[in-house]
Amino acid sequence: MKILVTGGAGFIGSAFVRMSIGETDWRVVNLDKLTYAGNLENLAAVDGNERYRFVHGDICDARAVDSILSEEKPDAIVHFAAESHVDRSILSPEPVIRTNLHGTFTMLDAARSHGTARFLHVSTDEVYGSVAAPLDATEKFPLNPSSPYSASKAGSDLLARAYFVTYRLPVVVTRASNNYGPYQFPEKLIPLMIANAMENRALPVYGDGMQVRDWLYVEDHCRGILAALEKGRDGEVYNIGGNRSLPNLEVVRKVLSLAGKPESLIEYVTDRPGHDRRYALSSEKLMGETGWRPEMDFETGLKRTIEWYAANSPWVARVRSGEYRAYYEKNYGGRTVAR
Ligand code: NAD
Ligand code: TYD
Repeated sequence: MKILVTGGAGFIGSAFVRMSIGETDWRVVNLDKLTYAGNLENLAAVDGNERYRFVHGDICDARAVDSILSEEKPDAIVHFAAESHVDRSILSPEPVIRTNLHGTFTMLDAARSHGTARFLHVSTDEVYGSVAAPLDATEKFPLNPSSPYSASKAGSDLLARAYFVTYRLPVVVTRASNNYGPYQFPEKLIPLMIANAMENRALPVYGDGMQVRDWLYVEDHCRGILAALEKGRDGEVYNIGGNRSLPNLEVVRKVLSLAGKPESLIEYVTDRPGHDRRYALSSEKLMGETGWRPEMDFETGLKRTIEWYAANSPWVARVRSGEYRAYYEKNYGGRTVAR
């Protein structure tokens, strides 16, 4: 089995690549543009493995994608590559729409013309928009996105569906809740709060901090994707949730308590425009069809994540300074650029 992973240098994609190389005998090709969120240091553990290859390229570049598929002929594509941050999508929507919509179109169309046997599109619970308590969104919930990010993901989910219905491309869509764990870029809530707490800087909480998110440990997400990839039915959508919904303020307080820092570091700041109040997800379908379930309880996962950030403060410093970008030049020197 050979898989093409897009966005494998990001937070979740790199965990998926490390897991696929470490726990299966698959060959893995990783296509990544190395935006600010792509960091090859996340993949140092698989560098040099003969079953792993990195290709530097843009999923919006149809010629590059076509040449990779012609050369590699993967059995499956696992499509992670995206602009993934809501705040950035509010400040600057254009790259989000380009990569998430047009890039997904490019990947789907290339898979169609190459007859790829499986296309797994990685999406998010944010496509359902805010879900009123006490409901949990099932896959049948209407799409109701609020931000340019979630709208672009909803659009890409619908394109994936259209490629299944129209061309019978064997597509599976997964929609996961908020991920956390090692190697997450410190712009998202949990790693930002950990990094700031470690440096005794203020922890910015948007609005009243009572927005609810469902937290999923990144390895549980990757195992859910593997389950959907291997056992999911063509044309179906599968939610992957952590089954742990918490208000942001509670998450921030847990971070401070585990890091041994005072709550006086919390700073209430202006709310995000269009901020969804509550995400909550039912994963009954994936659990029932594949036997997958989230294994990591939130307190253990958060403790492990804080320990990882504490032990890897040079990684955080390199990411925050931009120095991590030198890794590609030093270790790859442009050798594997597609074309
Ligand atoms: P990330 O921002 O950490 O990584 C994205 C990766 O995609 C980076 O390596 C980046 O270089 C690459 N990329 C961006 N644009 C590209 C392009 N045009 N061509 C090729 N590569 C490109 O994101 P993440 O948090 O790892 O999320 C991965 C996927 O999972 C995304 O599709 C996201 O929507 C989805 N998701 C994320 C979460 C979460 O909590 N982070 C939850 C549910 C779903
Ligand atoms: P984030 O990690 O950006 O994920 P998403 O918006 O995709 O859910 O944010 C998670 C929650 O935390 C969201 O309700 C916004 C909030 N938040 C803050 O309160 N402060 C912050 O500095 C950040 C980045 C997020």
